[in-house]
Amino acid sequence: MHAPILVTGGTGTIGRRVVPLLVASGRQVRVLSRHPRPDSPGVTHLEGDTVADRGLEAATDGVEVVVHLAGGRTGDDLAARHVAAAARAAGVRHLLLVSVVGADRMPIGYFRAKAAAEQAVAGSGVPWTVLRVAQLHDLVLPVARAAARLPVTPAPRGLRFEPVHRDEVARRLADLALGEPAGRVPDLAGPEVLDLAALVASFREAEDRRPARRLPLPLAGAVGRAYREGANLAGPDARRGTRTWQEFLTATMLDSFKSAADGAA
Ligand SMILES: NC(=O)c1ccc[n+]([C@@H]2O[C@H](COP(=O)([O-])OP(=O)(O)OC[C@H]3O[C@@H](n4cnc5c(N)ncnc54)[C@H](OP(=O)(O)O)[C@@H]3O)[C@@H](O)[C@H]2O)c1
Repeated sequence: MHAPILVTGGTGTIGRRVVPLLVASGRQVRVLSRHPRPDSPGVTHLEGDTVADRGLEAATDGVEVVVHLAGGRTGDDLAARHVAAAARAAGVRHLLLVSVVGADRMPIGYFRAKAAAEQAVAGSGVPWTVLRVAQLHDLVLPVARAAARLPVTPAPRGLRFEPVHRDEVARRLADLALGEPAGRVPDLAGPEVLDLAALVASFREAEDRRPARRLPLPLAGAVGRAYREGANLAGPDARRGTRTWQEFLTATMLDSFKSAADGAA
């Protein structure tokens, strides 16, 4: 009989796909997030706050593996320190952290916090694994949608993404959680590198609209230089998902069509 696995942020876009994979492998799962949620078969929900260091002692008590996915725009460094300290105090066997590709290369607060979170985990004394992942298709979608509404498509020079599918990230995280601590594992990114204009062009095409003129824009400062140098991109050693932006868009459009049709019925 295995001890439970704690998934912080198990209700988020990635977490709610990781949790059923762990349950399907026969594990009991505890989910920690800030808002109350009902329990379900194999899943106990606990309220807590990783940034405020609330509820972590109870959540980690008797747990074998912690999958730390809870995250926000700020505070991920502090949250990781709290989770790592609680995991250590509870004698956790494996602490798995999700981070972001380019964490230690991008001069942006969110990335810096992720780099500090990685250090907190690696220095915790708990055997650990860190997986850096690229932006999900879901995160890129609202950016592409907003840009597609404009009469011209902004094309910041050097800004590229390699979006990855949430299900492929969830599968990899579940496999890592069920495996042995592995330290820093190869980054996980999507199968293609796309600039904003290409993302927007596919979005307009999916909506059966004509392409818009591209408006090249300079990207200033250290952030611009980092993007131009591809500091946010995974290198040749990365693992690549197989699901493309186009496949994601088509599936998303079909889902919205189906919801609209169901609503009208
Ligand atoms: N999405 C991406 O493109 C991407 C790329 C690379 C890395 N990541 C990282 O992957 C992780 C998961 O991303 P996601 O897209 O699934 O995020 P998400 O959809 O925003 O979900 C965040 C989850 O964390 C919980 N949470 C947030 N702040 C918390 C706090 N202080 N204490 C406890 N729980 C908290 C949220 O639940 P409540 O709101 O109920 O607390 C939710 O379950 C994050 O660490 C993110 O930085 C994401």
